Amino acid sequence: AGNGILQGKRVLVTAGGTIERLDPVRFLTNDSSGKMGFAVAEAAKRMGADVTLVAGRSSETPPAGIKVIRTASAADMLDAVMREFPDTDIVVKAAAVADYRPATVHEQKVKKTGEKLVLELERTTDILAALGERKTHQLLVGFAAETENVERYALDKLKRKNCDLIVANDVSKEGVGFNGDTNAVDVYGPEGLVSSLPLMSKRETASRLMELITDRLSSRGGD
Ligand code: PMT
Repeated sequence: AGNGILQGKRVLVTAGGTIERLDPVRFLTNDSSGKMGFAVAEAAKRMGADVTLVAGRSSETPPAGIKVIRTASAADMLDAVMREFPDTDIVVKAAAVADYRPATVHEQKVKKTGEKLVLELERTTDILAALGERKTHQLLVGFAAETENVERYALDKLKRKNCDLIVANDVSKEGVGFNGDTNAVDVYGPEGLVSSLPLMSKRETASRLMELITDRLSSRGGD
């Protein structure tokens, strides 16, 4: 029988990288392994939540007992997230979503021609910002992967995307951010720094983060 502080709460987590097709054999993606997001999903599950994981490119094994929706492109991820959002209480957006995709998706393999090939890219929809516009009761938690001006950029994303918390990782630092098993993050709310979580395993980061999120939820007068 389920028990835990998040019993009865629905948590939606995104993880991994997106894949933007150029042609049948090529795509653009990024370094996200999905480890951070999968760890968040696992922590939420352990705390008794009803968890849905929207997973992009990742070779991680999803934790048992959660609903997993696999997606490829940023547009696919947007669709899946939008479908789940109304019934969700907490959203944690750890996925690394493409900001641009090839403007043309070729049906046939692109052939080698001149010395140079210029790829035209177009903007994708910002999923987090779209959620920020639509949110009603949901607690919205974004991530910010930065290599400079971490605090300023993170606070700017928090405001612009209407998040309740933003988890900033300085991915220029050793052991932080993409791919590895560890992370170090600063968590900001509208009032500024909420907590600094030094270098630790992503599992530990995820547990601590879910505790911070739970605190926010109860201080809002949830339960
Ligand atoms: O997966 P791992 O290898 O474990 O690595 C973890 C991580 C570095 C990917 C993770 O900790 C992290 O920082 N995730 C967010 C990466 C990212 O895309 O950051 P960003 O600063 O570009 O985007 C900010 C926020 O907007 C993110 O919550 C992102 O999910 C969201 N976003 C961005 C673009 C877009 N089109 N839609 C979005 O929702």
